[in-house]
Amino acid sequence: MSPDFLAACRRQPAGGTPVWFMRQAGRYQPEYRKIRERRSLLEICALPDICTEVTLLPVHQLGVDAAILFSDITVPLLAVGVHLRIEENVGPVIERPFTSAQDIERLRPLVPEEDEPYVSAAVGQIVSELNGLPLIGFGGGPFTLASYLVEGGPSRQYLKVKGLMWEDPATFRRLLERLAEITFAHLEAQVRAGAAALQIFDSWIGSLTPYDYRTHVLPVMQGLFARLRSLSVPTIYFGVETAGLLPLMAEAGADALGVDWRVDLAEAWRVVGTRHAIQGNLDPALLLGPWPEVERGTRRVLAAANARPGHIFNLGHGVLPTTPPDILRRVVDLVHASPAEM
Ligand code: CP3
Repeated sequence: MSPDFLAACRRQPAGGTPVWFMRQAGRYQPEYRKIRERRSLLEICALPDICTEVTLLPVHQLGVDAAILFSDITVPLLAVGVHLRIEENVGPVIERPFTSAQDIERLRPLVPEEDEPYVSAAVGQIVSELNGLPLIGFGGGPFTLASYLVEGGPSRQYLKVKGLMWEDPATFRRLLERLAEITFAHLEAQVRAGAAALQIFDSWIGSLTPYDYRTHVLPVMQGLFARLRSLSVPTIYFGVETAGLLPLMAEAGADALGVDWRVDLAEAWRVVGTRHAIQGNLDPALLLGPWPEVERGTRRVLAAANARPGHIFNLGHGVLPTTPPDILRRVVDLVHASPAEM
């Protein structure tokens, strides 16, 4: 029996430590690269058969305890008519970045059945082929989505989106509320189609001070997670470089917090308390190293988690494209061989 990912999200005994990897489907796989020769990333997301094939690749190859829908956080933005493209080795690029309060009107509500029927179609097809293994649905955090819309693309310092937040907090809040609305509709549709858990990728939230997070973002996240609770599936809230924000992120209302490798897991638990599951947090760069180091790093993460109920093993961020596929399978086997929680 493989460890029960959903039980771990709820901090119940899971029969071992469940493991999956952010970006477990992607360019590190030769099979994925082959598919990408003929299709763009966003085409794959909009073609349920191919999306299903790509989502299932790592499930069969690695023996992970959960699948994650192959998609991108920008998919629902595209579905409501935001013109954007995903540039290789760069990320999402917005055709006309948001520069004024009027631009918010470009974000109409998402009607998943009409705007992105391929998402539910893919989820349904994947779930029917998973034989009971849970599928994680996901969406972007409102701040992270706003950062792309306002900056126009990936950013180092987030000067424009922070500028908006400080100069016109009411407009910033309206932008985040609209994005939360879109994210909720996007996630609700995935759960209706069969997703068994949800992760919010708020990847760039760690760029904010605790004060700004609490003042400008946390209330929106609390509203979003309160609504997600009605869907009765476990939720995971993930961000990068969030060590200083963890106590506040714990107030957002997710069941589990995803943390990167810059924080010690035992320390994360100390700060967050025992009311949350914690997901993480092997450094993805370590997977490029020799196996003995990978093995030691994996054991260090497991030791820091100390077999607490509610540890979900993952990387601290996505699998890097240069990762040898076989290493991931060995990490899964090692995590599964570790003793179950006490
Ligand atoms: O985890 C999974 O297996 C699901 C796949 C997934 C993708 N995007 C596919 C993808 C997930 C969970 C995402 C979420 C996403 N997209 C986030 C949050 C997670 C994170 O990484 O912080 C963000 C910030 C984005 C925006 C985005 N899309 C970026 C920064 C990039 C990388 C650009 C690059 O070329 O490195 C993308 C493109 C993207 N989305 C790829 C994949 C597999 C790259 C591979 C490709 O183009 O085929």
